[in-house]
Amino acid sequence: MRDLIKIEYLTNAEIEGLMSLAQEYKNGKKSNFSNHHCALMFFENSTRTMFSFECALNKLGAYSYIFDNAKSSILKGEEIFDTINNLCAIGISTFITRTAKEGFIDELKKLEFYKPINFINAGEGKSSHPTQALLDYFTMKEKLKDVKNKKIVIVGDIKHSRVAKSNIKLLSKMGANLVLCAPKYFTEEIDGAEYVPNLNEALLGADVVMCLRIQKERLNEEVSIQDYIKNYQINSVNMPKDAILMHPGPVNRDVEISNELINSKYGRTILNQAENGVYVRMAVLDSVFKGDEA
Ligand code: CP
Repeated sequence: MRDLIKIEYLTNAEIEGLMSLAQEYKNGKKSNFSNHHCALMFFENSTRTMFSFECALNKLGAYSYIFDNAKSSILKGEEIFDTINNLCAIGISTFITRTAKEGFIDELKKLEFYKPINFINAGEGKSSHPTQALLDYFTMKEKLKDVKNKKIVIVGDIKHSRVAKSNIKLLSKMGANLVLCAPKYFTEEIDGAEYVPNLNEALLGADVVMCLRIQKERLNEEVSIQDYIKNYQINSVNMPKDAILMHPGPVNRDVEISNELINSKYGRTILNQAENGVYVRMAVLDSVFKGDEA
């Protein structure tokens, strides 16, 4: 694997291979990739994904460099291609990027750089966040063994969520029964999943309830948060007792999930997701580094 761009570019066998490798890292596998130099280029805010990648790079013995856009020469008018090409000449070979621009890495892959380089998508526009979907799948497998025919209910701002899009791609490949639950203003037609707008109906028999944050930074229209809370918040009354509660983070407490529910035993899985993210990203980096050396 030379790059990780989108879930849809991976075969089921490649996804399962990453899961096995992530499990090996979780079990204590050690590697040394001290000949790899990686830039973390985040043009949108991040806490989990950036620290998780940096932690994974440190554990693998690779070098990480945080690109600070506000202090960079992009603000002097340098084009992103020239920035990356110069960093490539300096010795960076892997670029972990987060941008608002759809197709950012696909566009860069058409260009010729000074030396061969690898890209890893750490979140792109409203459409893809592949490492989040991989770590969510890893966490589901840890809890449920298999997602085939399991009912996974994704609740919230589907329309603006790249996490939802990558998860739907991955989980439908793996045979999960996907139900999307959202008000009209957060609905977008997506292949491979069924919409059930009524929350109580959607939650019936759920194995996993995955909540999404309202992506205020991507909203063009006015949305009533109070209306959302009233009709779509997951709380200790409507949470199916035997299901797993998931959320990619950041959580807005008392909006998509009640504070009480997050503070209960159900909230721990959200931290399991963050923990597993490091092992999954170690597996992704290992595969990209080995693909680079092949
Ligand atoms: N889940 C996720 O992408 O979180 P961050 O935005 O904090 O990286």
